[in-house]
Amino acid sequence: MTVFNLGVAELRTRQSMKWQTYPADVLPLWVAEMDVKTHPAVKAAVFAELEAGDTGYPAGRRYADAYRAFAARHWGLELADAQVKQSGDVMNSMLGVLQTVTSPGDAVVLNPPVYPPFYTIVERYQRKVVPANLTPDGRLDLAAIAEILAGPAHPRAFLLCSPHNPTGTVHTHQELAELVRLCAANDVALIVDEIHSPITHAGTGFTPILSVPGSERAIAVMSAGKAWNLASFKGGLVIGGTAAGDVLDRLPALLLQSMGHMAAIAHSTAMNEGDAWLAEYLGEVAANKQLLGRLLSEHVPAANYLPGPGTYFAWVDCSALGLDSPATHFRQAGKVAFNDGTAFGKEFGQWIRVNLATSPEIITEAIRRLANSL
Ligand SMILES: Cc1ncc(COP(=O)(O)O)c(C=O)c1O
Repeated sequence: MTVFNLGVAELRTRQSMKWQTYPADVLPLWVAEMDVKTHPAVKAAVFAELEAGDTGYPAGRRYADAYRAFAARHWGLELADAQVKQSGDVMNSMLGVLQTVTSPGDAVVLNPPVYPPFYTIVERYQRKVVPANLTPDGRLDLAAIAEILAGPAHPRAFLLCSPHNPTGTVHTHQELAELVRLCAANDVALIVDEIHSPITHAGTGFTPILSVPGSERAIAVMSAGKAWNLASFKGGLVIGGTAAGDVLDRLPALLLQSMGHMAAIAHSTAMNEGDAWLAEYLGEVAANKQLLGRLLSEHVPAANYLPGPGTYFAWVDCSALGLDSPATHFRQAGKVAFNDGTAFGKEFGQWIRVNLATSPEIITEAIRRLANSL
């Protein structure tokens, strides 16, 4: 079985964002959509609902139950039913938690470069971003974080991306334990986006935040949307530490009513029956990362790529190429679309994010176009 086996002609018929945003002569390796067919069990489950006309409101706890089973099976994390709330998606969940635990004007710590909506949910809702950039090798800068949390900005919340998008950094247990300690010592709410956690290569040791001692007040947000390419079925989860029940109780009521019935069917089926598929495509992602490294060192040796194990993205430093805006240049002169690093933090304009959840042929063609544009 090969998961990333779809050709460009077939993919170009897609109606979603990745393949529709740019003209047909631009090869898209940007937004977090995977070039895959729907998992067979998910497809069957959704079809069965459609066949029966069963397209009403969601009932019950199937998504929360599927996640609790997934977390126990993969990470030995045992969660009580009351710790898991079902919601409409991950970013609205993070926003809902943030609004619950902070007030307008409060400072919120992020770790640039970071997934662009992290900025949106802080800045558009009258909070202030306080950056604690990752170190050049992609780790949490715990010394800088310690200073910021105890300093005059007096942050009230910390938004962690774990694993980290775009670098794929898998934070270690030790790093997370120190972060938990610092947040508790400074009375800072820790909110952790774990949507990339299933997309973590075996043996790289993803640590769920709620397995870290002292994390009883932390909140995780999660979904099957990324790992099984189900973004069009809007669903998400808010998972509270054992002492965060008061926060869960105060979440916006409409957030907790925003999951669709079909999303619950699709996401829970993926979590219940999608382990083998996940393992298969993670092997293909690992091979794609090696392929990208090889292609770059052969054709664009000045580009600097340090693979991270917790994502299907590659984060590539193009600063040695001497371009004003590498992403714009590659799109205009090379007809290949990557994410522009600027969206992840204004100082990252020399970086691109490459989506490797696609076939080796498409990656090879993308790097051919990139190299030809130089
Ligand atoms: C870190 C991270 N969080 C959240 C999301 C989006 O999740 P949702 O569509 O459920 O809001 C993405 C999508 O790429 C992501 O990478």
